[in-house]
Amino acid sequence: MRIAVFASGRGSNLQAIHDATLANDLQGVSLALLVCDRPDAPVVEEVKKRGIPAFIFSPQDYADKKDYEIVISEKLKTAKIELVVLAGYMRLVGSVLLEKWEGRMINLHPSLLPLFPGIDAIGQAWRSGAKETGVTVHFVDAGMDTGQIFLQQKISVDPEDTEVSLAKKIHSLEHQLLPKAIQKFQQEM
Ligand code: GRF
Repeated sequence: MRIAVFASGRGSNLQAIHDATLANDLQGVSLALLVCDRPDAPVVEEVKKRGIPAFIFSPQDYADKKDYEIVISEKLKTAKIELVVLAGYMRLVGSVLLEKWEGRMINLHPSLLPLFPGIDAIGQAWRSGAKETGVTVHFVDAGMDTGQIFLQQKISVDPEDTEVSLAKKIHSLEHQLLPKAIQKFQQEM
């Protein structure tokens, strides 16, 4: 199964997915394309080192979302992508991609959705005083973190936790859960 990852930042989840494919933890999965909307994002350097093909664009070079999503669609088609994985892609997906990829596009979110959608989900959970939080992988729809939940895992917020230690726990959980979700998609969908 050929997958594309969309990312805008660090790319630690892209690295976790790629490592899993190399270690054969994700058998039969090939990370065939990065789509990135920020040419200066660290993930761009990372895919260069790893030899992963990339489409890197600046949204301001296009008239609107529709325009750049048409180009992304073509790139996905050429790369024969079967599943799109949003891992820190800091944009709402528009109608061009949603129409083509509904049911084949998943997003990673660092909370137990429907709790704490949107930005700074870890900080939101921390400030709420919740005793547990977690990570969600869900199908993408037109809303912000609103699509059908595909896989979720909880962790406890312990008395000795700080916001920083909680963020670390969440990120390492993400690095495990996202490859698991891709495997589940491959087996079930
Ligand atoms: C992750 O916490 C993900 O849940 C959120 O953005 C972050 C991306 O991290 N949507 P990275 O770029 O994969 O390191």
